[in-house]
Formats: sequence, C-alpha cells, structure tokens
Amino acid sequence: MSKILVIGGGGREHAIACSFKRFGHTTFVSPGNPGMENDATVVPKMDFKETADFVKDYAIDLVFVGPEQPLADGIVDFLQARGIDVVGPTKAAARIEGSKAFAKDIMQRSGVPTAAYKVFDCLDDATSYLKSAGYPQVIKADGLAAGKGVVIAQDYDEARSALESMMRDKVFGESGSRVVIEEFLQGWETSVFAFTDGQHFVTTIFSQDHKPLLDGDKGPNTGGMGAYAPVRSAEKYRDRVEKEIFEPVLRVMREEGCEYRGVLYAGLMITEDGPKVVEFNCRFGDPETEVVLPLLDTDLFEISQAILDRRIDDIELNWGAGYAVTVVAASGGYPGKYMKNKLIQIDDGLRHRIYFAGVGRDGDGLVTAGGRVMMVTALASTLDKAREEAYEDLSRIRFEGMQFRNDIGAKDSRNL
Ligand code: AMP
Ligand code: GLY
Repeated sequence: MSKILVIGGGGREHAIACSFKRFGHTTFVSPGNPGMENDATVVPKMDFKETADFVKDYAIDLVFVGPEQPLADGIVDFLQARGIDVVGPTKAAARIEGSKAFAKDIMQRSGVPTAAYKVFDCLDDATSYLKSAGYPQVIKADGLAAGKGVVIAQDYDEARSALESMMRDKVFGESGSRVVIEEFLQGWETSVFAFTDGQHFVTTIFSQDHKPLLDGDKGPNTGGMGAYAPVRSAEKYRDRVEKEIFEPVLRVMREEGCEYRGVLYAGLMITEDGPKVVEFNCRFGDPETEVVLPLLDTDLFEISQAILDRRIDDIELNWGAGYAVTVVAASGGYPGKYMKNKLIQIDDGLRHRIYFAGVGRDGDGLVTAGGRVMMVTALASTLDKAREEAYEDLSRIRFEGMQFRNDIGAKDSRNL
C-alpha cells in the first residue's frame, strides 16, 4: 500500500484522504485540520521546500494537491522538478482557474460554448460599457476570490457598485484589478470533473453545488453550501460535454504549451442550446468532492498513477449505486466576517460521516475556525433518503451561530 501526502485543509481534502484510506493507503494531510485526525496524519503547514523534504524523509509515494492556491503558486512545478510524483496542473495550466480572462480566451479559441464576454482593465471603460448594456450582466473579478468574486447585476446601479468595489476599492485585492463582464446564462447548473493526463481523460458523475447562502438560491454567493450527486438529468449531455468542452480545451492547452494534467472541473449551465461553461477550476470542487468521492469505487491512487503514466484511457471509473448529499454547516456571518472559536457539539448516533473544514482544537473539543465549518454527508439508495439522513445527522450538531441551507438536493428531484 502507498503513502500519500494530500495538500490542503478543508472538507475536500478530508474527503480525498478518506478516499485513499478506503483503499488501504496511508495518508498525511498538510495543513489538514484537527477534525481529520481519525482518518489521516495531520502535518503542520509547510512551504514548498519543506514539502519536498517531507516527501523524501517519509518516503511518500504521491502528492495530491487539493486547493487552487498552491497550484496557482506553482507547487507542481516545484515538486516535479525534484522528481516527486505529484497530481495537479502546473502553474501555467492552473491559469484556467487563476485568470478568468485566460480561461475565456482559451474557451473562445477552442470553440467551447460559454457566455459572450468582454475584459476590462480600466474602471471608466467598464463603466461606460455597462451604461449601454442590457441587464442582467455578470461581473467577475479576474483572479482568485474563493468563489465570491461574481456579481449578477440586475441594473446599472448594481453593476457600477460591483465594479467600484472590485476595481477601485479592491475588495478582492489584485484579483479585481481586471474584470470580466459576461452575458447572463439562463438554465440550470451542474458540474463534472475530468481526470486527465493532458491528452486523454475520463469524466466523473455529475454533481450539483448550491452556491447562494440561503434557501431557494437567495442571498450572497458562497464557496458552496451543499451538493448532491449523481445528477442523472445531466447524463444525456455527457457526450457533448466530453466532445465540445473537455476535448477541445485540453487540445488547445497542449498546443499552447501549457498541457493540463490532473483534475479539471467544469462548472456548466445547461441552457436551451445545451451545456455551456460557467467556469473551469484547476482542481476538485468543494463541496462537490464530498459527494463524488464517497461514490467512487475506483482507487484514487490508481487513477493518479494513470494520470502520471499518461494512460488515463486505461482507467474505467466504477461508481457505487445510490446518491450522496452533503450539507455545509457554516459559521454565523459567513460569507462575510464570521464568528470563530465556538464550541462544536456533536451528539452520539450519527448515521453517516462528517468531513471537517474550518475547525480548530480547544482542549479536548473542536471549535469553529473558518467560514465553512463541516460538511455532513449521507449516502443512501435514493436522493430523498440521502437528503433526509444528512439533515437527521445535521440535527445532532450544534455550534453558536450555525447556518445551513434546508433545501440541498431538493429542487432537482423532479428531474430524476
Ligand atoms: P463562478 O465563480 O464563475 O462559478 O460563478 C459563481 C456563480 O455565479 C455560478 O455558479 C453561477 O450560479 C453564477 N454565474 C456565473 N456566471 C454566470 C453567467 N454567465 N450566467 C449566469 N450565472 C452565472
Ligand atoms: N464548488 C465550487 C468550487 O469548488 O469552486
């Protein structure tokens, strides 16, 4: 069995660690969090050099990178240059998430269906464009913004204030000095991952995130408040998603000299004209991973080896029957300034499992330490049952200020 180092510290990385553990591998997670300690060895945060040293000292067979930031910072380039097996895109390839303008350009050149768009570096030009535009318009900070850099403006006033906070007030720092303004796409959303060796790829089951904070998709956007999988009604688009989206994007990235290897996430809007790309991410989604990996019955280590050996087309992904639902328990105040250090109480009798994210330790107990605190995940034979059981488990969890959505996985039951 192999030794794996997972980089990251959220619910996604907890689910990744559990996926490796399920197939008998030993997993280390850095920086991890205290909620993962039963499933993996938690290693304090390391810089790239310390990570490389750790890999040598502990004879780690594989590094798997969870979040976008270390990928955008070039962790894969650094470790690869030292002969370390690492799954994830290089810094150049990770721009598909790190710069929305880059992603749109690649999509345009590869003919991938996506919203029409314009890129602006200057507030005045963007403002005058928006004066004469039709509404709604979608305004996006170019760089990384933890899933929060998108505003759907219903009129010019909203659009202008979004622009001003991104470009002038720099609420997302340098990520907002450039903005992408794009057409509003009507439809329903789903996401899918591809495991790719740069040339070939295999796609996972479809899942669905719930980004707005409140029930009925109301309130501000978050990093994701819950997810379910599989989304059966998306299956009929799989062929098109593979041929019209993943295949051309990977080809153009190869041709551009920034071959993409690792996990590529496509966030899709299913429109009247078929699937269109809302965004690419250079990694697994969070919280989608918490519903996709528990259903994956193929060893993630074997998949990783196939990515590294450029034989991903030899891999067949096997999926468990049934459905998974994950509900995020978030801190009071999230996605704005949120409460911290609140004691987490978990009653006995949980039927399923929790993936921990923003938690810390205080004495023997766990306390809240982040915006999204944990993901309560249930697996069951039907979507309704999985949802019921996830909420039943959630009712056994308490911390001051806890927020969650009541309708994860509810709106699409009709499609199944
Ligand atoms: P992103 O961070 O790009 O995934 O955007 C966050 C959320 O904003 C998406 O999940 C969509 O719900 C919404 N969104 C982004 N772009 C568009 C668009 N062009 N049309 C409609 N909704 C969008
Ligand atoms: N769930 C969306 C994301 O991971 O960006």
